Amino acid sequence: MKFSGKIAMVFGGTRGIGFTVSKALIEEGAFCYITGRNEEDGYRAQDILGSNARYLSTDVTDERSVADLFSLIEANHGRLDLAVNNAGVTTKRASVSELDLKEWRRVLDINLVGPLVLMSRQIGLMARNNNASIVNVSSCGGVLGQPRQSAYSTSKAALNMLTQVAALECANPPYGQHVVRVNAVCPGPTLGGMNTEERRRANPESTQEKIQSTAMKRFANPEEISAAIVWLLSEQASYVTGTLLSVDGGFSAGKF
Ligand SMILES: NC(=O)c1ccc[n+]([C@@H]2O[C@H](COP(=O)([O-])OP(=O)(O)OC[C@H]3O[C@@H](n4cnc5c(N)ncnc54)[C@H](OP(=O)(O)O)[C@@H]3O)[C@@H](O)[C@H]2O)c1
Repeated sequence: MKFSGKIAMVFGGTRGIGFTVSKALIEEGAFCYITGRNEEDGYRAQDILGSNARYLSTDVTDERSVADLFSLIEANHGRLDLAVNNAGVTTKRASVSELDLKEWRRVLDINLVGPLVLMSRQIGLMARNNNASIVNVSSCGGVLGQPRQSAYSTSKAALNMLTQVAALECANPPYGQHVVRVNAVCPGPTLGGMNTEERRRANPESTQEKIQSTAMKRFANPEEISAAIVWLLSEQASYVTGTLLSVDGGFSAGKF
């Protein structure tokens, strides 16, 4: 098994893409901490994932709950091998001229400052051992601008740059520390999670827009995104760091 004996953290692992990644990591032998704010979702996910999953209610914007999570992992294992910073939110579509600054800051806080705070703690813990790897879950919306999505697109574009800066800082560490590889996956529109059947039915226009925005004219299945994340976490990607991997059905390949 690829991740036998590894300790993993999937931040935002209770639903959607994060849940699918957690499942794949556990199937490959990892012990996986999953987080999210909604406890009902969290405990349901933990039950489905089984005894190698542990849910902890954590809000990425609450420094204390993040600190408690890392203290617990440090006390229980003294190490962290794999981290997926997946927690992310979208917001109501609005143009820049219709700015709602409070909402803008909320999105930046969760999608950008969140992974920054997480990585600042993850790197120290992960650099103690060989083959540690972080994947930030970004978006195709951070690769190409999307009208009426300034907060989301900006948060993910900045997350891409943050990923590359962190990758450079962790690629050649001082004596006694180990390399931590840091990469991002930029998914295209994906089923489940932010695109449940209920949401797709309630928003037929934006659903069609999303389908048409991809060259392949379809949504991804969450497994197609998690396969890329799992590969980046694995030793098969041992020479890959600072990469922004688009998994988007051709969304960012050009204009069509
Ligand atoms: N689905 C897509 O089409 C798509 C496309 C491109 C990129 N992405 C990106 O992929 C990631 C996952 O998307 P998804 O569709 O699977 O979303 P999702 O089903 O809404 O899952 C998001 C996860 O993040 C957690 N989360 C949200 N805010 C949080 C906070 N403040 N603190 C801690 N956890 C928080 C959620 O749990 P709680 O709500 O309980 O906290 C949940 O576990 C996101 O970063 C998203 O931007 C998704």
